[in-house]
Amino acid sequence: MIIIKVKDYSELSRKAASLVAEELAKKPDLALCLPTGATPLGMYEQLTDKNLDFSKATMFLLDEYAGLGVDDEESFACYMCLNFLDLVNFRKENVFMFNGKAADLDKECEDYEKKIEEKKIDLAILGIGKNGHVGFNEPGSSFSSQTRVVSLSEQTRESNAKYFEKGEVPSKALTVGLKTIMGAKKIILLASGAEKAEVIKQLVEGEISYQLPASVINTHKDAVLVVDRAASKLLK
Ligand code: PGA
Repeated sequence: MIIIKVKDYSELSRKAASLVAEELAKKPDLALCLPTGATPLGMYEQLTDKNLDFSKATMFLLDEYAGLGVDDEESFACYMCLNFLDLVNFRKENVFMFNGKAADLDKECEDYEKKIEEKKIDLAILGIGKNGHVGFNEPGSSFSSQTRVVSLSEQTRESNAKYFEKGEVPSKALTVGLKTIMGAKKIILLASGAEKAEVIKQLVEGEISYQLPASVINTHKDAVLVVDRAASKLLK
C-alpha cells in the first residue's frame, strides 16, 4: 500500500479529489464505489468544484442502513444525493444505491453484487472506522465476504448516533463485501484526524487479521492510503 501523508483535512480532500480526477481522465467510463461519512465530504466538495464530466461514469454506493431509503434523511442514499450526485452529471441509469427498504434484503444484496460483477469497479474510495471497518464490514468479517446484510457493532452504532436525531441507529445494514472491494482495480483509503491515529497504526504496522477488516487492503496490488498528520501521528 502506498502511503501519501498530507498536512490536514483540506489537503487530504484536495489530494483525494485530484486522484479521482486523474482516474476519470484516463477512463471517462470509470466505475466508482463511493463511501459516505464525515471523511469524504471535502473530497466531494472538491470534485463538484472541478466540474468534471461523470456522464459516462458509474457509481456504486458502498453501504446503506437496513430499513432506510433515499427519502430518509439519515440514509446514505440521501447523503450521496445532497453532497454529490445532485451536483454532478452522472446519468441516472449509472447510479447504483441499495434500497434499504427492499422486502428481501438478501436478494437486494445478491442483485447488487451481480451488477458490480457486470460493471467491475475501477476505483473504490473508502473511509475507515475506528474499529477498522471498511464499508460496514465490521471486525470478524471474512475476507471472502461479498455484498450482504450485516449486523452493526455497538461501537459503530455509537459513532453514528450523532446523525440520528430521532430514533435509533439501525442494527442492520447492507454493505459491499471485502472480497468485492478487493476486486476493485484501485483502492484509495482516506483517514483524517487524531481519532483515527490508533487504527491507522494498526493498519500500517499491525498484522493482517479479520479483527481489522481494513487490513486486507494491504494485500491489494494498487492501494493508496491518504492520511493527514493527525491520523498518522502514531506511525513509526
Ligand atoms: P467517518 O466514517 O468518515 O465519518 O469517520 C468512516 C467509517 O466509519 O467508515
